[in-house]
Amino acid sequence: MKTLRLPSFAKVNLGLEVLGTREDGYHELRTIFQTIDLHDDVVLRRQPRDVTVRCDHPLVPNDATNLAVRAAEALRRHARIDEGVAIEIRKRIPVAGGLGGGSSNAATVLVGLDRMWKIGLGRDGLHRLARTLGADVPYFLLGGTALGLARGDEVYPLWRQVKGHVVVVDPGIPLSTPAVFRRKDAALTPRKNSSSIFYFVSRDLEGEGAWRFLTNDLEEAALVEAPALARQVQRIRAVLVREGARLAALSGSGSTYFGFFSEADRARRAQSALAAAGLQASRARTLSLDQYRRAHSGRRGP
Ligand code: C5P
Repeated sequence: MKTLRLPSFAKVNLGLEVLGTREDGYHELRTIFQTIDLHDDVVLRRQPRDVTVRCDHPLVPNDATNLAVRAAEALRRHARIDEGVAIEIRKRIPVAGGLGGGSSNAATVLVGLDRMWKIGLGRDGLHRLARTLGADVPYFLLGGTALGLARGDEVYPLWRQVKGHVVVVDPGIPLSTPAVFRRKDAALTPRKNSSSIFYFVSRDLEGEGAWRFLTNDLEEAALVEAPALARQVQRIRAVLVREGARLAALSGSGSTYFGFFSEADRARRAQSALAAAGLQASRARTLSLDQYRRAHSGRRGP
């Protein structure tokens, strides 16, 4: 196999609770991850020595600091491979948008090169390497609806996979994740000792009721970090709620805002209304664990 082309999917956080700070400087989280079929394309081409990357997006580095390169280098060291690879990334996932694009690209490179170089670690074997690359990378080895604990790198698939339509709004304001977490730390209001995620998980996932309690603890901090986002979010939320979103929330540390809909029609109407208001809105479907695994291994479409 000379060339391998794989989709690299985005995620949204259906809920995100920040439980406290950890000794390693990270935060203890409780979150529900959900993959959607919005994706970048990752192409891997064999080459003799070097690991190189090319990406068409101006905010993505084309050098060794790119997380996809670091993933390839880490795997190469681990498996003592002396071959190189040319990585090409075609971006569709908003960059620094809270949709996990960089982490997803890194996980996709791990999965692709494990196959291309015939290492045979598999997704379980890649997990340890994935954790060293970033908190969200292990989740992208799994996909679907999953509970994320610890730094977000301890992931457990949920028994019932969420199915629906997601309208993703990119306000075009890249946000730095560490900066949003710092704002969160500086906020004076302590978190209420409640867990909407526990409530959500412990009930029928498709049941009414549990959805409306889901929140993102980083939302307020992101809006303080980016006042321009705060101005847009009111408008975005209003449209999503009016069109019947079961959940309207910031994804991760932002700045992407999304609405979750059970029905395609409502999602379509919300997308049109947002576009008419001059906002950059796209529509995606959720990917279950099984759909993700099939599509992500490049063997069959979602
Ligand atoms: O692991 P990753 O490099 O994706 O994380 C980016 C940044 O997000 C970290 O440097 C940290 O500031 C913040 N973060 C955190 N707690 C987490 C995950 C991320 O503080 N659980």
